[in-house]
Amino acid sequence: MEEISLTINGKNISCPPGTSILNAAMENGIKIPTLCHHPHLKPAGACRLCLVEDEKNGRIMASCVTPVAPDMVIQTDSLEIRKHRTNIIRLMIASHPESCIVCSQGNRCELRQIAAELGVGQTALYPMPHYTGLEEANPFIIRDLSKCILCGKCIRADHELVVVGAIDYNLRGFKSLPATAHEVPLEKSSCTFCGTCVSMCPTGALMAKNTRYVGSPQNESVTLCGFCGVGCSLVMGSVDGQIVEVNPSHEKETVNRSTLCVRGHFAHDFLNVSERLTSPLIRRDGELSPATWDEATESVAAQLISTKKKYGPQSLAFLGSSKCTLEENYLFQKMARAVLGTNNVDNGSYGSGKAVMNLVTERLDGGGRITPIAGLEKAEMIFVIGANPIQSVPVVGYSLKRASRMKGIPLIVADPRKTGLVPFSSLWLPLAPHSDCELINALAAVLYERKSYDTDFISRFTEGFDLYRDGLSSLDLERVSRITGLDREIIERAADLFEGKKVAFVVGHGILLQRYGVLAMDALLNLALMTGSLGGEGKGLYILARENNQVGAWDMGTVPDFLPGRQFLYNDMMRKHWEQAWDVKLSPDPGLNAIRMIEEAEKGNLKALFIMGENPVRSLPQPERIRKALRNLEFLVVQDILENETAHLADVVLPGAAFSEKDGSFTNLEGRIQSFKPVVTPPGEAKPDWEILDLLGVRMGYPRRHYSIHKIRDEISHLVPAYMELEREGEESWIKESSNLKLFHPDGQGGPIHFSPVITTEDETYDEAYPFTAILGSLRYHLGSGTRTSHSVRIKDFALKGEVEICTEDGAQLNLSEGARARISSPYGSISREVTLKKDLRPGLIFIPMGFHNNDAMQLIELTQLGRADSPGWKECRVKLEKTEN
Ligand code: SF4
Ligand code: SF4
Ligand code: SF4
Ligand code: FES
Repeated sequence: MEEISLTINGKNISCPPGTSILNAAMENGIKIPTLCHHPHLKPAGACRLCLVEDEKNGRIMASCVTPVAPDMVIQTDSLEIRKHRTNIIRLMIASHPESCIVCSQGNRCELRQIAAELGVGQTALYPMPHYTGLEEANPFIIRDLSKCILCGKCIRADHELVVVGAIDYNLRGFKSLPATAHEVPLEKSSCTFCGTCVSMCPTGALMAKNTRYVGSPQNESVTLCGFCGVGCSLVMGSVDGQIVEVNPSHEKETVNRSTLCVRGHFAHDFLNVSERLTSPLIRRDGELSPATWDEATESVAAQLISTKKKYGPQSLAFLGSSKCTLEENYLFQKMARAVLGTNNVDNGSYGSGKAVMNLVTERLDGGGRITPIAGLEKAEMIFVIGANPIQSVPVVGYSLKRASRMKGIPLIVADPRKTGLVPFSSLWLPLAPHSDCELINALAAVLYERKSYDTDFISRFTEGFDLYRDGLSSLDLERVSRITGLDREIIERAADLFEGKKVAFVVGHGILLQRYGVLAMDALLNLALMTGSLGGEGKGLYILARENNQVGAWDMGTVPDFLPGRQFLYNDMMRKHWEQAWDVKLSPDPGLNAIRMIEEAEKGNLKALFIMGENPVRSLPQPERIRKALRNLEFLVVQDILENETAHLADVVLPGAAFSEKDGSFTNLEGRIQSFKPVVTPPGEAKPDWEILDLLGVRMGYPRRHYSIHKIRDEISHLVPAYMELEREGEESWIKESSNLKLFHPDGQGGPIHFSPVITTEDETYDEAYPFTAILGSLRYHLGSGTRTSHSVRIKDFALKGEVEICTEDGAQLNLSEGARARISSPYGSISREVTLKKDLRPGLIFIPMGFHNNDAMQLIELTQLGRADSPGWKECRVKLEKTEN
């Protein structure tokens, strides 16, 4: 399309048609003051501050809502324009309360800044402040709407970005203000306390309720969120070396587009708590007491080496963390394999669907890994299965809501529960728990019956379709309906939405951690191949990683069976490659995963365990069993940022630095590699984990020290092809597809992707003793086991009890009313929770939120069943319910 030429402040400019005058000016370095504009919001033309003048005809217009036109001669700062702007600001100041001196927004208030630039001080107009009450009952947001200038950014952020609809304008004219429906307090509205509106407010009308500090931070630095796999870009403000404030970064190309969720905005309190570990500790006479770094590293090195000498390398194990950086994960597994000769290395995200991910890696040969979240809003159809992103990875939830509401993209949600995404969907498939595999096969069978599949894609990129379609033709759809609880008609309606479309498959823990997860994923990959939905924008697999660097930890080989680059340990060629790179002989013996480590400790075979950044006593099933197994070890090292249940059992504790206190990189769930710099220094004597590992390596006789993060990055980028761009300092990069399959191979010369045969699951058997199926899942306030989020005073103050959800009929039958207390028991343990009744829940199903009450829900699951290669996961378990008095 032909560009439009115009002049702004005497400068010749050309830009695409449809560009606003404001954007054209900004892109050419010309600043125009604004109060209601934001690059991620639709222009509203509300504040009129961005006025400019067309010298050719004297027209004055709001530049944010006026598109460029050929031959315009724009002036952004003429006398006339300054006069108008000054008047607008004077009117705003006249209706503003005189509380600037005590306002927490301080010098960051955009109204004050613009007033100062225009020389507007005490206005000559008669002050007409618009007093409203201060609303601060909730622990997250303070609203002082007397400072509101009606820019509407908060309302647009709420509607256009996070798609909640908690606030809108009430009333009209001078009395109009952003308000909740019926003006209820925020905590009684649908607000999710994401804080996105707060970070957009140009004045102090909306402010974060800080727990430690009121005023402007001394420093502000861009970094990443330390919680889930979305990897949101944020700005942390600090005072005296402590993080006091978090806001989304407002840069254009971030994954989160100026939004955050409640965790990212309000749950980083753990960084400042008194439970931070600040000096190395060594157990002496039964007590952990402070030690020097020399003493602690010498003790760890000597104990690990002597254990290896005495019992062999299989007596050692290393449990790392998907919260630690790429560089730290790489060094951690290298220390285990190259320095100590064991493949007993895993990370805490073992329980996040490793068996399912192995299947994806094997079937797609590591391809199809780059699926940008932004692509969801360009999809032809979205199928969300076993995922509740609105709670688990909220920023992905925002994208899905926008895709459906604003782009009209058909969205199917397959979930036993009526999740928050269901109201945004075109169709909800309320299938029975763990019947996903059956549903997916049935959808494929109906599409096959209708001859609706992508023959071109199938013939170019796949193999084995004949066998697969034989399986589809003989599928018993009546049995599927019985098992899934979905009748043929609703399956046909879902197939209608699939017909002729390339599909984005969004897959969460409901599949990754499910008993039939591997079968369900196998079936899903077949469906993706059949519909030609792999390899391209807005389609393919969106696997929702829970932890911030889960993808990266697996890529760096902090799992027993993958060497770095997800190269299988059993592959002799791959092992040789790493032997040459590290100049050592590597053990071909399969390593222990996190569960098997515990089992071997129970049996007395595992003698020493090094845990970095994990709290297995809280995060793994059967906490008492874990405690006992850890006590059975001869030597336990815990390297962490926080004092926790596991650190209390350690022989040596090494204090690590949090992500905000060190250099590092994470890979998010899309395959985006993001590097970051420290915002503050680590507390006390704490050190970055990579530095501690580097010191230990030398103490244990490894001849090559890395000395700096850059040297580690350099090694990774040279040895792991997918990470060849890691060292691009200061720039964000993406992992590279390294698959040999034709679809993902740059020259199209690779091999085909195979269809798997259709496999069906076993019929469910009813267990009279444990008649309920409990689904264990997330609520947005806690991540995982809640080790970090439970340190947030604000989240605690919100009075979250982690109530168990029960359907109204079951509640009536068990005499359990709203707020009553129930004991929930499985064959492995029992917990007690308050009850909340849900009318949309299917009878026989209950929901237990994770992370609450020291993550006690893990008492209901058996540890051993997770250790198998075809791990059934911990997403659901059989339980019974009884009413209790306390
Ligand atoms: S509360 Fe803030 S963001 Fe919302 S309309 Fe008022 S000034 Fe604008
Ligand atoms: S905090 Fe988030 S959900 Fe609540 S009103 Fe603001 S933007 Fe909407
Ligand atoms: S969506 Fe995830 S990464 Fe983003 S703010 Fe929330 S917890 Fe942090
Ligand atoms: S920025 Fe253009 S009207 Fe407010």
